[in-house]
Amino acid sequence: MEKIVALSKRRGFVFPGSDIYGGLANTWDFGPLGVELKNNIKQLWWKTFIHQRRDMVGLDAGILMHPRVWEASGHVVNFNDPLVDCKTCKARFRADHLLEQRLGIADADGMSADEMSRLIREANLRCPNCGNPTLTDARQFNMMFSTTIGPVSETGTSVYLRPETAQGIFVQYKNILASSRVKVPFGVGQIGKAFRNEITPGNFIFRVLEFEQMEIEYFIHPDEWEQHFEAWLAAQRAWIEAIGLNPDHVRVREHAPEKLSHYSKRTADYEYLFPGSLGWGELYGLAYRTDFDLRSHQDASGVDLTWFDQANNRRFLPHVIEPTFGVERTFITVMLDAYDEEETVDVNGKPDTRVVLRLDPKLAPYKAAILPLAKKPELTSLAGDIFAQIQGDLGVLVDYDETGNIGKRYRRQDEIGTPFCFTVDFDSLEDGAVTVRDRDTTKQDRIAIDEVGPYIQERLRR
Ligand code: GAP
Repeated sequence: MEKIVALSKRRGFVFPGSDIYGGLANTWDFGPLGVELKNNIKQLWWKTFIHQRRDMVGLDAGILMHPRVWEASGHVVNFNDPLVDCKTCKARFRADHLLEQRLGIADADGMSADEMSRLIREANLRCPNCGNPTLTDARQFNMMFSTTIGPVSETGTSVYLRPETAQGIFVQYKNILASSRVKVPFGVGQIGKAFRNEITPGNFIFRVLEFEQMEIEYFIHPDEWEQHFEAWLAAQRAWIEAIGLNPDHVRVREHAPEKLSHYSKRTADYEYLFPGSLGWGELYGLAYRTDFDLRSHQDASGVDLTWFDQANNRRFLPHVIEPTFGVERTFITVMLDAYDEEETVDVNGKPDTRVVLRLDPKLAPYKAAILPLAKKPELTSLAGDIFAQIQGDLGVLVDYDETGNIGKRYRRQDEIGTPFCFTVDFDSLEDGAVTVRDRDTTKQDRIAIDEVGPYIQERLRR
């Protein structure tokens, strides 16, 4: 993980947030290459789950919603984590994690705060940070960030920053039904920011305070929930394959009934095997939310959210299957699985390490690099023309680099995951061809300049 963090900063994928002020803990900014990778992930997701399906539509709801949304959804009462402080060193811990790690209790997150406090006291647990027996009792801590609408906080309206994008979909479900031709079963997909005041953020961008979700609420008849659950589990698996994650690093974990969220009847997580002490951690989730959300919003708002199924002459409140995907977790796992160090020899025959990011071309920030062999006007001019043709005419993002020796330029592109390098040399002026070098094999071929665009496009379709 340290190597990914270092490469991310060095090459402009991810920077620590507010860096020149010494950083703000657990905030990160996506740099010039990071934003490209992130956008590629989001665009591929949108294409896969919205554009390529006839049963799906999209939505872009606001981050701020009526405070009653979060009362009805159960988040005001239930979206808590149990918190323990150390009175000596002021370190903070998740009480359930402490009990799991220090006392080996497997199901601590299902316990009440009182029960956790009793166990901490009975075991005389010490602070993992300073070693003093000065841990407070556990108390439930709501993870929603709140702010105020209006210039004067005393008279303003308190609102929350949404902790999940899902609620925007439930609240707009009736407008979507009324304005489009969707029929149950159908789904609404959304990509957007969510905010959580996590007690134990960390592990780079694995657990952060501000992140993006790609969520689907799929509305179904209740009798059909099991078949839709299985279909979405398979669709998530297909997505994981499409973004090139190593299947050995991914598993499905079913949640035990007593550990389900307040809205769920069945939840399965796709987990990823993160390096080091992090181990298996949640990548994506799949939940059968029943009619919990629509029923709660119907009761709280007084608006009828039932659907009339004309074909079968029946009226019912749809149930929901929710596949949810974290953008940051997709980003980090794609980087981890793509990162490779290859032992090789340099031009002088000395041992050398080639760092290569074997990203799927569809996700790679640059699809290709155009490299004039030397900084001579006749070569840079031809290379500039090829660059303009690929990036300008075809709209494919490519890099252009004329600085340093060609070996170093190849290495730079390898490290940022550029799948193909096209080198313009003096022969190009005669034969109208360039050398294409493959990132993964380092194999080189000669192709006509006219073929460069189709060559890239063909490989992006695979
Ligand atoms: N609407 C359901 C929901 O929000 P969740 O499991 O709490 O479910 C969904 O979150 C996904 O969002 C997770 O699978 C994970 O990929 C991502 N996620 C959740 N909390 C996160 C955090 N603090 N930082 C980064 N990603 C997070």
